[in-house]
Amino acid sequence: MEKLTGANKINSAVFISGKGSNLKNLINFSLNKNSPIRVSLILSNKYDAKGLRYAKKYRIKKKIYNFKNQIKVEKKILKDLNTNKIGLICLAGFMKILSKNFIAKFKGKILNIHPSLLPKYKGLYTHERVLQNREKVSGCTVHLVSAKLDSGKIILQKKVKIRKKETPKSLAKKILIQEHRLYPKAILKIFNL
Ligand code: GRF
Repeated sequence: MEKLTGANKINSAVFISGKGSNLKNLINFSLNKNSPIRVSLILSNKYDAKGLRYAKKYRIKKKIYNFKNQIKVEKKILKDLNTNKIGLICLAGFMKILSKNFIAKFKGKILNIHPSLLPKYKGLYTHERVLQNREKVSGCTVHLVSAKLDSGKIILQKKVKIRKKETPKSLAKKILIQEHRLYPKAILKIFNL
Protein backbone atom coordinates (compact mmCIF):
# COMPACT_ATOMS: atom_id res chain seq x y z
CA MET A 1 0.00 0.00 0.00
CA GLU A 2 1.01 3.63 -0.48
CA LYS A 3 3.22 5.51 1.94
CA LEU A 4 1.25 7.74 4.29
CA THR A 5 1.82 10.65 6.62
CA GLY A 6 -0.26 11.86 9.56
CA ALA A 7 -2.17 14.24 7.32
CA ASN A 8 -3.74 11.57 5.16
CA LYS A 9 -4.63 8.77 7.48
CA ILE A 10 -6.74 5.99 6.01
CA ASN A 11 -10.26 5.81 7.42
CA SER A 12 -10.60 2.38 8.96
CA ALA A 13 -13.46 0.30 10.28
CA VAL A 14 -12.99 -2.24 13.06
CA PHE A 15 -15.46 -5.14 13.13
CA ILE A 16 -16.07 -6.75 16.52
CA SER A 17 -18.38 -9.24 18.23
CA GLY A 18 -17.05 -9.29 21.78
CA LYS A 19 -14.77 -7.72 24.34
CA GLY A 20 -12.96 -5.43 21.96
CA SER A 21 -9.53 -5.39 23.58
CA ASN A 22 -7.96 -5.42 20.11
CA LEU A 23 -10.32 -2.63 19.10
CA LYS A 24 -9.21 -0.51 22.06
CA ASN A 25 -5.62 -1.24 21.23
CA LEU A 26 -6.10 -0.27 17.57
CA ILE A 27 -7.84 2.97 18.58
CA ASN A 28 -4.91 3.90 20.81
CA PHE A 29 -2.51 3.01 18.03
CA SER A 30 -4.50 5.12 15.55
CA LEU A 31 -4.25 8.16 17.83
CA ASN A 32 -0.52 8.02 17.42
CA LYS A 33 0.85 10.71 15.11
CA ASN A 34 2.73 8.14 13.06
CA SER A 35 -0.14 5.73 12.63
CA PRO A 36 -1.34 5.34 9.03
CA ILE A 37 -4.95 4.74 10.13
CA ARG A 38 -7.82 6.53 11.80
CA VAL A 39 -10.51 4.33 13.36
CA SER A 40 -13.61 6.07 12.07
CA LEU A 41 -16.17 3.29 12.34
CA ILE A 42 -16.86 0.47 14.76
CA LEU A 43 -19.10 -2.23 13.43
CA SER A 44 -20.67 -5.16 15.27
CA ASN A 45 -23.08 -7.99 14.60
CA LYS A 46 -23.99 -8.01 18.30
CA TYR A 47 -26.00 -5.40 20.14
CA ASP A 48 -24.39 -6.35 23.43
CA ALA A 49 -20.75 -6.60 22.31
CA LYS A 50 -18.76 -5.20 25.24
CA GLY A 51 -16.33 -3.49 22.92
CA LEU A 52 -19.07 -1.17 21.66
CA ARG A 53 -18.50 0.99 24.73
CA TYR A 54 -15.30 2.26 23.13
CA ALA A 55 -17.41 4.04 20.53
CA LYS A 56 -18.75 6.36 23.20
CA LYS A 57 -15.46 6.64 25.06
CA TYR A 58 -13.49 7.66 21.98
CA ARG A 59 -16.37 9.34 20.12
CA ILE A 60 -16.27 7.00 17.18
CA LYS A 61 -19.28 6.22 15.03
CA LYS A 62 -20.74 2.76 15.66
CA LYS A 63 -23.05 0.58 13.61
CA ILE A 64 -24.75 -2.60 14.68
CA TYR A 65 -26.12 -5.01 12.10
CA ASN A 66 -28.36 -8.01 12.33
CA PHE A 67 -26.80 -10.71 10.18
CA LYS A 68 -29.98 -12.80 9.77
CA ASN A 69 -30.07 -11.98 6.10
CA GLN A 70 -26.37 -11.78 5.31
CA ILE A 71 -26.70 -10.84 1.64
CA LYS A 72 -28.92 -7.91 2.48
CA VAL A 73 -26.88 -6.78 5.43
CA GLU A 74 -23.60 -6.91 3.57
CA LYS A 75 -25.07 -4.63 0.91
CA LYS A 76 -25.97 -2.14 3.65
CA ILE A 77 -22.54 -2.43 5.20
CA LEU A 78 -20.81 -1.81 1.86
CA LYS A 79 -22.90 1.31 1.45
CA ASP A 80 -21.94 2.52 4.92
CA LEU A 81 -18.29 1.79 4.28
CA ASN A 82 -18.45 3.86 1.11
CA THR A 83 -20.25 6.73 2.82
CA ASN A 84 -17.56 6.77 5.50
CA LYS A 85 -14.78 6.46 2.90
CA ILE A 86 -13.38 3.39 4.59
CA GLY A 87 -10.12 2.17 3.07
CA LEU A 88 -9.23 -0.58 5.53
CA ILE A 89 -11.23 -3.09 7.53
CA CYS A 90 -9.72 -4.67 10.63
CA LEU A 91 -11.52 -7.72 11.93
CA ALA A 92 -10.92 -8.05 15.66
CA GLY A 93 -12.82 -10.89 17.25
CA PHE A 94 -15.55 -10.62 14.61
CA MET A 95 -17.48 -13.90 14.69
CA LYS A 96 -19.18 -13.78 11.29
CA ILE A 97 -17.76 -15.11 8.07
CA LEU A 98 -17.94 -12.48 5.36
CA SER A 99 -19.11 -13.57 1.93
CA LYS A 100 -16.85 -14.02 -1.10
CA ASN A 101 -18.60 -11.14 -2.77
CA PHE A 102 -18.01 -8.80 0.16
CA ILE A 103 -14.35 -9.77 0.42
CA ALA A 104 -13.88 -9.26 -3.33
CA LYS A 105 -15.18 -5.68 -3.00
CA PHE A 106 -12.50 -4.95 -0.39
CA LYS A 107 -9.78 -7.14 -1.86
CA GLY A 108 -6.47 -6.77 -0.06
CA LYS A 109 -7.99 -4.32 2.40
CA ILE A 110 -9.38 -6.62 5.09
CA LEU A 111 -7.13 -7.77 7.91
CA ASN A 112 -7.87 -10.33 10.60
CA ILE A 113 -6.14 -11.43 13.76
CA HIS A 114 -6.26 -15.08 14.71
CA PRO A 115 -4.97 -16.60 17.96
CA SER A 116 -2.83 -19.36 16.45
CA LEU A 117 0.16 -19.81 14.21
CA LEU A 118 -1.72 -20.15 10.94
CA PRO A 119 -2.06 -22.27 8.86
CA LYS A 120 -2.30 -24.37 12.01
CA TYR A 121 -5.49 -24.29 14.07
CA LYS A 122 -7.89 -22.36 11.87
CA GLY A 123 -11.37 -21.79 13.25
CA LEU A 124 -12.66 -21.89 16.82
CA TYR A 125 -11.45 -23.45 20.10
CA THR A 126 -7.88 -22.86 19.04
CA HIS A 127 -6.26 -22.99 22.48
CA GLU A 128 -8.11 -26.15 23.52
CA ARG A 129 -6.97 -27.95 20.38
CA VAL A 130 -3.40 -26.68 20.69
CA LEU A 131 -3.17 -28.01 24.26
CA GLN A 132 -4.83 -31.31 23.41
CA ASN A 133 -2.15 -31.85 20.79
CA ARG A 134 0.57 -31.05 23.35
CA GLU A 135 2.09 -28.35 21.18
CA LYS A 136 5.19 -26.63 22.57
CA VAL A 137 4.46 -23.29 20.93
CA SER A 138 1.46 -21.37 19.76
CA GLY A 139 0.96 -17.70 18.93
CA CYS A 140 -1.01 -15.28 16.81
CA THR A 141 -1.25 -14.27 13.19
CA VAL A 142 -2.36 -11.15 11.34
CA HIS A 143 -3.40 -12.02 7.82
CA LEU A 144 -5.28 -10.66 4.85
CA VAL A 145 -8.80 -12.01 4.61
CA SER A 146 -9.53 -14.22 1.64
CA ALA A 147 -12.63 -16.19 0.75
CA LYS A 148 -11.34 -19.27 2.61
CA LEU A 149 -11.54 -19.08 6.41
CA ASP A 150 -8.28 -18.01 8.13
CA SER A 151 -6.34 -18.64 4.93
CA GLY A 152 -5.30 -15.32 3.38
CA LYS A 153 -1.74 -14.02 3.03
CA ILE A 154 0.10 -13.91 6.34
CA ILE A 155 1.39 -10.46 7.24
CA LEU A 156 3.02 -11.15 10.63
CA GLN A 157 3.12 -13.83 13.30
CA LYS A 158 4.35 -13.99 16.87
CA LYS A 159 5.16 -17.17 18.76
CA VAL A 160 4.60 -17.85 22.46
CA LYS A 161 5.96 -20.78 24.45
CA ILE A 162 3.51 -23.15 26.09
CA ARG A 163 4.21 -24.05 29.71
CA LYS A 164 3.52 -27.45 31.24
CA LYS A 165 0.60 -26.19 33.31
CA GLU A 166 -0.91 -24.04 30.58
CA THR A 167 -4.71 -23.89 30.40
CA PRO A 168 -6.79 -22.56 27.49
CA LYS A 169 -7.44 -19.48 29.62
CA SER A 170 -3.81 -18.78 30.50
CA LEU A 171 -2.76 -19.37 26.90
CA ALA A 172 -5.47 -17.04 25.57
CA LYS A 173 -4.31 -14.35 27.98
CA LYS A 174 -0.67 -14.74 27.02
CA ILE A 175 -1.47 -14.67 23.30
CA LEU A 176 -3.77 -11.66 23.64
CA ILE A 177 -0.88 -9.60 25.01
CA GLN A 178 1.06 -10.47 21.87
CA GLU A 179 -1.96 -9.75 19.65
CA HIS A 180 -1.98 -6.20 20.94
CA ARG A 181 1.63 -5.77 19.84
CA LEU A 182 1.24 -7.59 16.56
CA TYR A 183 -1.83 -5.90 15.03
CA PRO A 184 -0.35 -2.36 14.92
CA LYS A 185 2.96 -3.75 13.64
CA ALA A 186 1.16 -5.58 10.84
CA ILE A 187 -0.70 -2.42 9.88
CA LEU A 188 2.56 -0.48 9.70
CA LYS A 189 3.93 -3.27 7.56
CA ILE A 190 1.14 -3.24 4.99
CA PHE A 191 1.64 0.49 4.59
CA ASN A 192 5.41 -0.03 4.20
CA LEU A 193 6.10 1.99 7.35
C1 GRF B 1 -8.76 -12.46 19.95
O1 GRF B 1 -8.10 -13.52 20.57
C2 GRF B 1 -8.67 -12.61 18.45
O2 GRF B 1 -7.48 -13.18 18.03
C3 GRF B 1 -9.82 -13.54 18.15
O3 GRF B 1 -10.84 -13.13 19.04
C4 GRF B 1 -10.27 -12.52 20.20
C5 GRF B 1 -10.88 -11.17 20.31
O4 GRF B 1 -10.55 -10.53 21.51
N1 GRF B 1 -10.15 -13.49 16.75
P1 GRF B 1 -10.97 -9.01 21.75
O5 GRF B 1 -12.46 -8.91 21.53
O6 GRF B 1 -10.19 -8.16 20.80
O7 GRF B 1 -10.59 -8.73 23.19
